[in-house]
Amino acid sequence: MSQPAPLPASLPADDRLIVALDVPNVVQGLEIAQRIGDQVSFYKIGLGMLTGGGLALANELKQEMGKRIFLDMKFFDIPATVEAAVRGIARFDLDFLTVHGDPHVVRAAREGAAGSGLKILAVTVLTAMDRADLDASMIVAGEMADIVTERADRAFAAGADGVIASPHEAARIRALPRAAGRLIVTPGVRPAGSAANDQKRIATPGDAVRLGADHIVVGRPVWSAPDPVAAARAIVAELAGA
Ligand code: C5P
Repeated sequence: MSQPAPLPASLPADDRLIVALDVPNVVQGLEIAQRIGDQVSFYKIGLGMLTGGGLALANELKQEMGKRIFLDMKFFDIPATVEAAVRGIARFDLDFLTVHGDPHVVRAAREGAAGSGLKILAVTVLTAMDRADLDASMIVAGEMADIVTERADRAFAAGADGVIASPHEAARIRALPRAAGRLIVTPGVRPAGSAANDQKRIATPGDAVRLGADHIVVGRPVWSAPDPVAAARAIVAELAGA
């Protein structure tokens, strides 16, 4: 078998790559970001770090290290509460925030983000859910792919700047007329040869972008790699060829 070509010693960061910092606290998050340095320009901070200083880390990475920040909070509540929560977050000068894709939630989030640069990304259907889970939640009958696409379309109609979807759904969403100028952000991305972990419907970074993703979210294959800089650089190199 032929060996892949060696990677260049350095490459500029590519903000299509968002690294999910799924570590429990700000100390570990900062340590990883400092270790990775200039090779990654965009980080995702999620609910797992809420009690470990997630917002403080987001601020530090943004203000002190110049990184872009995706805050993955997946808000869902009555409109007034969503609007107030998003307005509070919009004051922090971050880049992306997730809410569930229900139209009333998306509309309220847009109100809360008004006047800021914060982009609202809508979650369509959580990728960990299958049809049985949808049944248990009394969600309308039908194919998962159709439901995801319809939820994306309704979220766009309600004003979402983008949606979160698996790479396998990206192409159908990209084809929606309302998707023009909107973002598609895909987790479930695995460089060839890396462990799938608990992700079920995976695609490589290059394929995710070819299917219509504007940004890919990759967590463990970067931050838990023996050499996170090399892991990130390999993804950036793959994106450059996509
Ligand atoms: O380590 P890994 O690359 O699997 O991390 C993927 C990240 O994307 C995690 O933070 C996970 O919570 C998030 N995510 C996901 N699937 C979704 C939404 C978010 O994997 N549908």
